[in-house]
Amino acid sequence: MEGTDSDSQFGDGEEAQAAGVDIWKYVFGFTNMAVVKCAIELGIADTIEKHDGPMTLEDLSSSLGCDPCSVYRVMRLLVHNNFFKEKPTGQGTAIGYVQSPLSSCLLRQGKNSLADLILLESSPAMVAAWHCLASRVRANGVSSAFEGAHGADLWKYCAANPDHNKLLQDGMASASRVLVPAIIEGCPGVFQGINSLVDVGGGNGIALSLLVKAFPWIQGINFDLPHVISVASERDGVKHVGGNMFESVPSADAAFLMWVLHDWNDDDCVKILKKCKEAIARDKGKVIIIEAIVGEKKENDKLEYARLMLDMVLMAHTTKGKGRTSKEWEDVLFKAGFSGFNIKPLGAALHSVIEAFP
Ligand SMILES: C[S@@+](CC[C@H](N)C(=O)[O-])C[C@H]1O[C@@H](n2cnc3c(N)ncnc32)[C@H](O)[C@@H]1O
Repeated sequence: MEGTDSDSQFGDGEEAQAAGVDIWKYVFGFTNMAVVKCAIELGIADTIEKHDGPMTLEDLSSSLGCDPCSVYRVMRLLVHNNFFKEKPTGQGTAIGYVQSPLSSCLLRQGKNSLADLILLESSPAMVAAWHCLASRVRANGVSSAFEGAHGADLWKYCAANPDHNKLLQDGMASASRVLVPAIIEGCPGVFQGINSLVDVGGGNGIALSLLVKAFPWIQGINFDLPHVISVASERDGVKHVGGNMFESVPSADAAFLMWVLHDWNDDDCVKILKKCKEAIARDKGKVIIIEAIVGEKKENDKLEYARLMLDMVLMAHTTKGKGRTSKEWEDVLFKAGFSGFNIKPLGAALHSVIEAFP
């Protein structure tokens, strides 16, 4: 006998029904990232943003110089996923597209823009590493998924490929533009009493320039590998210094590490933190660490899934990096010789602020 409408090949019941739906998210999982990347490359969000009022398919396609049938299909999925909304244009029955909170993240500029981070994560070099993940997880497989794909770790690959280095630095900078204002607003007290701050692994210096703008009494030192510093633009209140954090860190009242320690294993984190400890003032010094903390059971926390995915990104793209629980952070900080620390969660954000004291 044929099954009834409520039967699924996965069995009966709510969970089985959900499995029959959810599995397609994974079968076609890459589509969502690819279509969002396509929207950024075409400049769909920027084109709609510049338009006065809802933008019809005809106007959007002609502004983009694209085939309307293809644009329609791309927009149909994006609207379904809450990127953009459809609204009446006010002219007859015509409907047009308008920005939504989610599509504002695809703008090339703007306070919510994560376009450069999406372009980084969806770039051929980053995607290639995912194909080596199983080999990385096997005990006898490649030691790093990124090295399995490219024969060098991410930092050496960036040093040899300036285009990928730019993609990485632009991607990180777009994350900083979203994250740093949340730190400034959520934890301004952390920066009180600090006259100089060294951003260790600070990339192109965007994060530090935002901090110095908000706390203008701070002198900023942006410290990163020489190939990163050599192409970093001048920024007010920020001095760029090239070097290697495993050898030494420029002296300052406090050190700031954002999205850096998660790239390394515990032993390397201890080495980096000891170099930071040597660099900071003994009396008022501290190390300010911005990282995602996994495994916290916070009420109404909708971002744990993103932290767990970030941990997988670290497994795919770094050699030894990982997401850490608060207990794992405590172990690393005490091994590096810090006498105390506190963790300040940042409301509805992926990351927390950790202050560690010598
Ligand atoms: C994930 S990025 C984070 C960049 C920046 N802190 C941010 O949040 O946008 C890690 C940074 O660490 C830098 N880095 C890697 N190895 C380093 C080393 N040995 N010394 C100094 N910086 C290093 C990389 O060049 C890169 O800019």
